[in-house]
Amino acid sequence: MSEIRTFHPRRGRVTTTQAEALRTLLPRYAVPAGRVDAATLFGGRPVVLEIGFGLGHATVEMARADPATGIIAADVHTPGVGRLLGEIEALGLDNVRVLHGDAVELLRERVDDGALAGVRAFFPDPWPKARHHKRRLVRPDLVSLIASRLRTDGILHVATDWEPYAEAMLEVLDAEPLLRNAYERWAPRLERPLTKFERTGLEKGHEVRDLVYVRC
Ligand SMILES: C[S@@+](CC[C@H](N)C(=O)[O-])C[C@H]1O[C@@H](n2cnc3c(N)ncnc32)[C@H](O)[C@@H]1O
Repeated sequence: MSEIRTFHPRRGRVTTTQAEALRTLLPRYAVPAGRVDAATLFGGRPVVLEIGFGLGHATVEMARADPATGIIAADVHTPGVGRLLGEIEALGLDNVRVLHGDAVELLRERVDDGALAGVRAFFPDPWPKARHHKRRLVRPDLVSLIASRLRTDGILHVATDWEPYAEAMLEVLDAEPLLRNAYERWAPRLERPLTKFERTGLEKGHEVRDLVYVRC
């Protein structure tokens, strides 16, 4: 089945340090091959998947703030993966595992139903052109996939600075029978570190919207 991917392969300059981190640290911190065993991956700690961590700013801060939760941090963007690996090593974080690849593929093929305590996606690519909306992460088929992998009471937390996408997210998420909005509409800005894309959005004067849904 050919999939409509949520990302556009882009090249970024990988620094020597990042390349070294990819070579030496990825084998150590990568999500182990095969099915994700959420019960044992972090020694029994609940597992949250972060889709599209970018440079990993939120990943690192959230991992440090909540060592009782394990984070699978996924991104396809090589420089960011190198950067995050370096941070995990430097800070000695034992609650982050990295997927250098497509989080959707991981969810579809390697994660059991009800396995995750949470899924987060901060500032997913907005794909503003109408003909690209089919690439959005928050679209009906992927929201159903995400919801199925959450355990009961598991949390889906997304944020965007692109108002038309925020409105579309609300519509798609409200329509998913396995999810209920934890708030009436937008969520308050929860404990969530400022990321590169949020900063850029704020500099452009964009309103930032958080949405939080609970698996029924
Ligand atoms: C706009 S950036 C936001 C990055 C970061 N969360 C932030 O707020 O700065 C979106 C990121 O999602 C990644 N991405 C998109 N689809 C993905 C997928 N299916 N699996 C993994 N990463 C994905 C992209 O490579 C990109 O780094």
